[in-house]
This record gives sequence, structure tokens and C-alpha cells, in this order.
Amino acid sequence: MPFTANRHFKANPRLFVAAQGMHYTTADGRRVLDGTGGLWCVNAGHSRPEIAQAIHDQVMTLDYAPAFQMGHPGAFELADRLKNMMPGDLDYIFYGNSGSEAVETALKIAIAYHRMRGEASRTRLIGRERGYHGVCFGGTSVGGIAPVRKFFGSLLPGVDHLPHTHNLEQNAFSRGQPEWGAHLADELERLVALHDASTIAAVIVEPIAGSTGVLIPPKGYLERLRAICDKHGILLIFDEVITGFGRLGSSFAVNYFGIQPDLVTVAKGITNGTVPMGAVFARKGIYDAFMQGPEAAVELFHGYTYSGHPVACAAALATLDIYQKEGIFDRAHSLSTYWEDAIHSLKGLPHVIDLRNLGLVGAIEFEPIPGKPGSRAFDCFLRCYEQGLLIRQTGDIIALSPPLIIEKSHIDQLFETLSSVIQTL
Ligand SMILES: Cc1ncc(COP(=O)(O)O)c(C=O)c1O
Repeated sequence: MPFTANRHFKANPRLFVAAQGMHYTTADGRRVLDGTGGLWCVNAGHSRPEIAQAIHDQVMTLDYAPAFQMGHPGAFELADRLKNMMPGDLDYIFYGNSGSEAVETALKIAIAYHRMRGEASRTRLIGRERGYHGVCFGGTSVGGIAPVRKFFGSLLPGVDHLPHTHNLEQNAFSRGQPEWGAHLADELERLVALHDASTIAAVIVEPIAGSTGVLIPPKGYLERLRAICDKHGILLIFDEVITGFGRLGSSFAVNYFGIQPDLVTVAKGITNGTVPMGAVFARKGIYDAFMQGPEAAVELFHGYTYSGHPVACAAALATLDIYQKEGIFDRAHSLSTYWEDAIHSLKGLPHVIDLRNLGLVGAIEFEPIPGKPGSRAFDCFLRCYEQGLLIRQTGDIIALSPPLIIEKSHIDQLFETLSSVIQTL
């Protein structure tokens, strides 16, 4: 099982057999409130009939079309819809099947782009400590979570990392973006001085680092990264696999922060978690750089059998319809203050050393039990599950990312359960 304590799980299995709206149903018939949107992907709530219908209709009409040298209308319709949701000239879409594949695609496009422009020495990739960009070799290499990296050898050469932005002394219990830490972006200048800009292809960051336990970017930090990348001709990649599709109360973190990256990766919420899909947005200038040479020649030697799979495209189109018709992103925005107040009401509970939030994302950080890192939060996860609440544990942090259809009464229930469980830890 992926990222799971296999022996512990098999001794005490936790199985979901159904899901509807904000709730899962367990194998023993209990309802569990979904505090994590599955894995940050079920933004419109579970088992939406409109998506099921679209998937059914697509399988019965065109189940599959070859992705290489052939196409189908759904892929282009979806690309048009996506680009209209994204500000600026991030107008070109390349499809894969997951966040991990989107990341690999973006990193490869970044390196190939510089080569197409005659700067083939720009191959270095800069990630960030505590970053998570999926589990393929590229994403693992630019990622910065030690247990995710350390078992897998030397990974990609020519990768370096910015420092992470987490600092409890300065920023504990910040509401929204912390005040302290914009200067940490200046570490990119140090890496440029060390490696020289002529060797650096791209910087990749999550606008909000999710998997490591929700690190909210300090005010001004992302703006500064953008400015330094611009100064040195380095591409900036936003990995929006968790922030995309309304999580912050806007379509993407790009809109939320008002910063224009060069490439953006998305997945998860693109199909509301129903069918695996990932995608990369590229700015027009990047697309144009590839459109050279003989017209009958392949421009990008990259792709997957299931790139732009018709069923995934149909699921994504139906998902975008729901997001739009139900104003799901505005809903998330309008609930974010209530959410913020609710999470910060946990301040003062035993072992709680930080609370963080932005949009409908939240995190609770616990003081680790000496010699047993992660065990307090894992206990919290298990006890919440017994009490009918699904949360996500990572290290000594609990991450929260509910479906964006959440009601205030669910928010109350979620934090009441958490509060009573934390008092037993
Ligand atoms: C920021 C980010 N990038 C990439 C990924 C990998 O996505 P997937 O698990 O779909 O491969 C994740 C997954 O959580 C993620 O949070």
C-alpha cells in the first residue's frame, strides 16, 4: 500500500465502501466526515451524478483514442476551458495522468525549452526543502522531504534546493500568510552565484507546500522568487496539484497570489478525483519556442498512452461545469474566514504548537513525543477516524483540506471532534 504502515493497516484495516457528498461510509457502516477531500482532490464532494453520467456517456461514445498523432474533441474543449480559467498567457495544456506525471512533464519541458532557444546549458533544476512533487525520479529529486528521497539513491544530478519557509519562532499561529520570511527567496540569488544562471533551467515550488504539512508562503516571498527568476532568465514552475481548482477560493494559486509563473502543474481536483488526470499549463512563449522546424516533425518527444484520455477529459469537463454552476470557488472564499476562526479556536489545547490556514486549507502542528516522531499525530488520526472524522497526518502535523462544498455545521463538527480528540492525546 502506498505511503501506508502496511503491517499496522492489515492488522486493523480501515476500508471505505461508499461516499456521498461530505461523507464516506466504512465497511462496518459508519459515516465518516471527509476532512481531506479524499487526498486533496474531491473538491465538489463525493459521487456527483453529473460526473458519473459524463463518464458513462464517454465510454459508450468514444472509449479511447490514440494520443499520438490523433486527437479527439474533448481534449481541445477541455484545454480551452482550462486556459480561460488561468490568468495571463498560460494558454497551452499538456495532459498526463497524475500530479507526478505533470511534474515530470513540466521539468522536461523547462529543460527542452532552453535547448530549443539555444541555451542547452540550462539544465539545473531548483526545488525547495520540504517540497513534494510526486514520486517519479524528477519530482523526487526536486522534492525536499527526506524520507521520500533517502531510500532511492542519488536521484537526478544537477538539482539544488532553496530553504523551506517554516519558522515557528517567527510565525507560529499566523492567520493566513505569515509576515516573516520573504527574504528566504533571496537564497535563490545565492544558488545563482554558486551555479551561474546559465546552468539553471527552472525553479519549482508549491505555492503552498501541502504534503509536508501545509507551509503557507510568507507575504512577499513568491513575488520575490518571481522577480529573481525574471532577472536571471530562469523559468518559474508552480506546482498547483493541491492548490488548483478552488482550494484557496480562486481558480488557482496563480489568481490568488497574482503571480504569473511560466509553467503550472495541476491534477487531483481537475476531475474531482474520479478519473486519474494531470496537466501542465505553459505560457505562450514556451509553446512558441517548440513550434520550429519542419511542420511534419514531432516537436516534443514526450507523452503518455493516456494523455488526454477521453474519459478523463469528459470527467474534467463535467467537474468544471459543477465548479462553475455552483460557484464552488467563491463558496470556498466566502467560508475561509469562518474556517480560519474555527482552526484558530484550537489554540491553547495541549501539545498544539502551531495552527496555520489559507483558503480552505488548515494545519495543526503538535509537539513531537520525544523519541517517537509522528506518533502523536498518527494517534490523533486514528482516534478521529474512530470518532467519524477523516484527517491527514504527516509527521507531527495534521493537514485539513475538506471538499469545498463543506457547510458551517460540518466545520463545527470537524473542529469539535478534533478538539475533544486532542485533549485525549
Ligand atoms: C504538490 C504536489 N505535486 C505532485 C503531487 C503528486 O501527485 P500524484 O499523487 O497524483 O502523482 C502531489 C500529491 O499530493 C502534490 O501535493
